[in-house]
Amino acid sequence: MSIRRLPTELINRIAAGEVVERPASALKELIENALDAGATGVAIRLSAGGLELIEVADDGSGMTADEMRLALERHATSKLPGDSIDQVTSFGFRGEALPSIASVSRLTLESRVREGDGWRIAVDHGVPAGEGPAALPPGTRVRVEGLFDKVPARRKFLRSPRSEYAACLDAVKRLAMARSDVGVTLDHDGKRVLTLQPSEPPARVAAILAHELDRHGIGVDCLRDGLRLTGVISLPTFNRGLADRQYLFVNSRPVKDRLLVGALRAAYRDLIARDRHPIAALFLDVPLGEVDVNVHPAKTEVRFRDPAAVRGLIVGGLRRALDEESGRSAAREQAAAPVMWTSGATYDETLTRQSRESGIPAFAGVTGVAEDVRLFDHAPAARAEPAVEPVSSHPLGVARGQVAATYIVAEAEDGLVIVDQHAAHERLVLERMRAAGEGGAVPRQSLLIPEVVELDEPDCDRLEGAAADLGEMGLEIERFGPASVLVRSVPAALGQTDVKGLLDDLAAEIAELGGPIGLTDRLDHVAATIACHGSVRAGRVLSVAEMNALLREMEVTPRSGQCNHGRPTWVKLGHGEIEKLFGRK
Ligand SMILES: Nc1ncnc2c1ncn2[C@@H]1O[C@H](COP(=O)(O)OP(=O)(O)OP(=O)(O)O)[C@@H](O)[C@H]1O
Ligand SMILES: [Mg+2]
Repeated sequence: MSIRRLPTELINRIAAGEVVERPASALKELIENALDAGATGVAIRLSAGGLELIEVADDGSGMTADEMRLALERHATSKLPGDSIDQVTSFGFRGEALPSIASVSRLTLESRVREGDGWRIAVDHGVPAGEGPAALPPGTRVRVEGLFDKVPARRKFLRSPRSEYAACLDAVKRLAMARSDVGVTLDHDGKRVLTLQPSEPPARVAAILAHELDRHGIGVDCLRDGLRLTGVISLPTFNRGLADRQYLFVNSRPVKDRLLVGALRAAYRDLIARDRHPIAALFLDVPLGEVDVNVHPAKTEVRFRDPAAVRGLIVGGLRRALDEESGRSAAREQAAAPVMWTSGATYDETLTRQSRESGIPAFAGVTGVAEDVRLFDHAPAARAEPAVEPVSSHPLGVARGQVAATYIVAEAEDGLVIVDQHAAHERLVLERMRAAGEGGAVPRQSLLIPEVVELDEPDCDRLEGAAADLGEMGLEIERFGPASVLVRSVPAALGQTDVKGLLDDLAAEIAELGGPIGLTDRLDHVAATIACHGSVRAGRVLSVAEMNALLREMEVTPRSGQCNHGRPTWVKLGHGEIEKLFGRK
């Protein structure tokens, strides 16, 4: 066996394997260098998703010719003056990005310091390819061409220019959010695709993520034990099928951190369906000694000294922010859009047809409010009660009737409110159980005769394994033979319930949660499943007193604006919108 020292070129190429995975990662490194150099503006140009060309020009400090030569050498950096990587505040610190990129592409580095002339150095796949004077304004310009052209192993894993472009755009957005004070432009294949003026963080985030966030976003700002969390998250009802708009920053560094993503998910648990995802831009600021940024060559992962504290801050902080906003629901504005409501023409036609078919004269009462009434099996099924109670200042108003035994129609001072009774009640039961749980033992209702429920053996095993937790929620069970369990009590909040159905669902829930999820998160899920069973089903006729009681309880219950699956529990049509529908405004 002969051991040898590898040539520099090969070392750089090996490092490039970790640092430069695709055009987007090279682009990220170049933008970070520009930001570290104190640029106030960064101009980016890409061709074919960065496969043909990546160019980043900045107006930062620039480099002298000697500095440029050094910059292209491995382990040469200006960013660790004190030889300590615990105190890093710059994006870069490893001194390997430029030589790594230069080893797998044709790279041209041009730079000029304020009081000097410009210089150019070219490198072709790690080999010097000439240098000389260059004309450029103070700052630095880096061109990377033909990335991975000569590295077939890597080339194979590249995707189409379109998806490489998408990854590049994402990298630009992340860094643009991290440094809202810097102006950014991005051109792709000769077209300007992004122009961002220097701005404050919230404006920058809204410009990049979603303008809708000004209506559907919740501002976050909390401080605990020297950790600070700021940013914006979306209302649970404003969610997406992909978790692609979640941006997390630690001390301004964009990171892709499992802990942070998990904490975000935990904060929304039971406010949002499991296959839906919130939009978020969260900035976590922690003392430098609390976080290690030297975990991964691409510098996108970090390690916290006290991960539990970080998770606690995020889950707690977001939960509080969500609670404070729990009355708001993103569906309100949507509901106010005329598309959700019959227009004058269809409205008249529907009513006339209905009255013709049913022999009941058309009247502009509750029945005709939503065209969808026609779609219900048992339409028309509205009940309108005499207006016994005057309109009061209750935000959700006074119940006026029930439609299709599913929706409560209420009149508020400022408009018409429709409540999905099952969704709303399910939420209330869950919150009731939670509130009871926080104060100690959950009130339980013992069954006069314990009920034996037969289930699959694996399901029995699962329930038996969770018996202690379930007991704390008021559901006392014990194993009763290989394929059955005995139920001794159920949570009092449930009232009459289908015990077998509840256990079936719980067993499925526990099976699904089998992974490494924290106990509290699990309990939340299980509680949500139990709550669903204790809820007023759609299709149950309610008295006016019952409806009003539900409305009043919703008003004082946290998070009652959306059901356990993230759908809105109520919508409101303001007087202004009603007038618009009738052309009065
Ligand atoms: N756009 C730029 N403007 C001014 N100086 C630059 C620029 N890009 C690179 N440099 C200089 O070149 C050095 C090497 O850059 P390189 O990206 O290889 O390493 P780094 O940024 O120090 O660390 P890392 O490998 O973590 O990015 C930097 O430390 C910096 O001094
Ligand atoms: Mg760098």
